[in-house]
Amino acid sequence: MGGAPKAPTFARTGVPELANFPRVEGQLHCEKVSLSALALAHGTPTYVYSGAEVDRAFEGVRAAMAAATKRDVLIAYAVKANANMAILARLAKHGCGADIVSVGELKRALAAGVAARDIVFSGVGKRADEIRAALEADIRAIHVESVAEIEVVRAEAAALGCTARIALRVNPDVDAKTHPYIATGIHGTKFGLELEVARGALGKILACPELHLEGVSCHIGSQLGTAAPLREAVAILGRFALECRAAGAPVRSLDVGGGWPMPYGCEAEPYPPPSAFGQAIAQGLADAGATDFDLITEPGRALVGNAGVLLTRVLYVKHQGTRRFVIVDAAMTELLRPALYEAYHAVAPVMPSAGAVSPCDVVGPVCESGDFLALERPLSEGIQRGDLLAVYGAGAYGRAMAMTYNARVPAAEVLVDGDRMKLVRERPPVESLWAHEHW
Ligand code: LLP
Repeated sequence: MGGAPKAPTFARTGVPELANFPRVEGQLHCEKVSLSALALAHGTPTYVYSGAEVDRAFEGVRAAMAAATKRDVLIAYAVKANANMAILARLAKHGCGADIVSVGELKRALAAGVAARDIVFSGVGKRADEIRAALEADIRAIHVESVAEIEVVRAEAAALGCTARIALRVNPDVDAKTHPYIATGIHGTKFGLELEVARGALGKILACPELHLEGVSCHIGSQLGTAAPLREAVAILGRFALECRAAGAPVRSLDVGGGWPMPYGCEAEPYPPPSAFGQAIAQGLADAGATDFDLITEPGRALVGNAGVLLTRVLYVKHQGTRRFVIVDAAMTELLRPALYEAYHAVAPVMPSAGAVSPCDVVGPVCESGDFLALERPLSEGIQRGDLLAVYGAGAYGRAMAMTYNARVPAAEVLVDGDRMKLVRERPPVESLWAHEHW
């Protein structure tokens, strides 16, 4: 009775198509290295990065900006997305700068070879010592986000006897139409200065010999689904930059922030290509008549997100209630995004496995019901203990947001270049977890 069983439907499925993560005879590779071989060499869980994919993504943004704006643009990589030194050094070799939010990111970027003149410092809560470190390093600009911060920057510059190059980060009140946790450019968020407040601060800045208003900036949010909000924000920013100049400020740079999207594989509509974002920026500048500024953009995930997968091994398969749980050795501790934002990350077996496809939840060993990497995914019923899975899109905000909850040891990181794999961050010994404790 009832005919054939109904095929399950899935809310979100799909795997991003990535030329640098090909299947060769069915087996998933990173460039020319098989992920099975990599797991044997380095264990799991391990973040695996493709150097070629980082290069490709960087070139995509660079070319899009150059074609649309017809000028040199500083690409200041948002270090928060992935601060691995090998990744930073690789980007620095391309001439990439850095967008940082802490003294830790400043030191990392400098140590990896990013030029100080190509570093901008954003963030709503910079401590005085962080501001001092940035002034001492002589970075390109400190992006101030409150009136009170302007005074701290002035005082630190006065104490050091230098002039502080600053930019006003404005909150243009543009709806980026993205996840509320990653929308930063509408009023009511903690980011940037409302335009009126930024305007009000101009007089004081111009009156302070220790302050040099070098630019204006904004960042409306991440994962922009369309380029239209960016155009709108850039036009607002451009008009404000012109106002600053008219008031006598030596503004030369316009930093349009990050937000360049990356596909996670589940999108019903593909994201617009980088060229659309480059054009939106150029159009925003034209709308404002702000055509002679140096440009900065701050992509984070678009440069590194799809350069990384999280390689994990199946520990157990268990059926409970109506669900099939595939329990793996990676967890929310290595990739927090699903637990924090219900973010989608594609999961695929490294070796094809036989068996019908049915829904399962891919979960980790951490003691939280929210510890899942993927829910209701169509994976083979043949998946069993010992199998390897790749979790996609883990190059951005993966290791960067990792934690050691449940005394879990941080995962290793491996960078692949063609047929070579290099352990770029070791899995530290478990004792490192209490190395700085005293009892
Ligand atoms: N510039 C500024 C000032 C930012 O605050 C951010 C990100 C970026 C650039 C880079 O944004 P992207 O191009 O990567 O979208 N943990 C969240 C993302 C938080 C982003 C915060 N700011 C996630 O996993 O989605």
